Amino acid sequence: MSELTQDELKTLVGRAALEHVVPGEIVGVGTGSTVNKFIDALAGMKDHIRGAVSSSEASTERLRALGISVFDANEVERLSVYVDGADEIDPKGYMIKGGGAALTREKIVAALSERFVCIADESKWVPVLGRYPLPVEVIPMAAQQIARRFAALGGVARLRLKDGVPLVTDNGQHILDVTGLHIADPLAFESTVNDWPGVVTVGVFAHQKAHVCLLGTTSGVKTVVF
Ligand code: A5P
Repeated sequence: MSELTQDELKTLVGRAALEHVVPGEIVGVGTGSTVNKFIDALAGMKDHIRGAVSSSEASTERLRALGISVFDANEVERLSVYVDGADEIDPKGYMIKGGGAALTREKIVAALSERFVCIADESKWVPVLGRYPLPVEVIPMAAQQIARRFAALGGVARLRLKDGVPLVTDNGQHILDVTGLHIADPLAFESTVNDWPGVVTVGVFAHQKAHVCLLGTTSGVKTVVF
């Protein structure tokens, strides 16, 4: 295969994820540029699924524009499959997510689902999590306190801005992006940060890890089962 662009690799894995969608059911849908490719492909089988539970306003809008029904997460007890991208994924299926600021709803929908199908181009594959700045959704009044706790771990936390002002998530909260971390034990790290007052969601997905990763490589889609 000739050299594919990152965008073409995203299209490839977005289409490949259709094989994991269970006909007749509701599918969990993540957020981001890779998931947008999945949503576009899903439109081709919209008459064979009941609809989707979405992890962001952006994905909801895209799903609805393509004629796919969107259910509230509270209407659903269990989903078979959740399809989402990642900012980083390691050889155990642990991920960093939240580059698109949708991490809280992503974790909620992932927790509703039996299987997490991660779709990613090969630039996202890392041996150890921590190269990508770790997104953490926080209650605004706790932001500086949480930043100091990260500093004690050797990290530097910066408030994410949009158009010069703090970005406000779909849940009305702020995002800290933390650099300088080397997350050797993602399960323990996720639990530790979750315990800090004011943390809404930490972007380490270890307890809600991927079950399978469809990795877009220049030689095609590689399926990694964890
Ligand atoms: C959204 O908040 C994120 O968790 C995305 O899943 C992640 O940032 C991957 O996005 P891309 O597919 O755009 O790289």
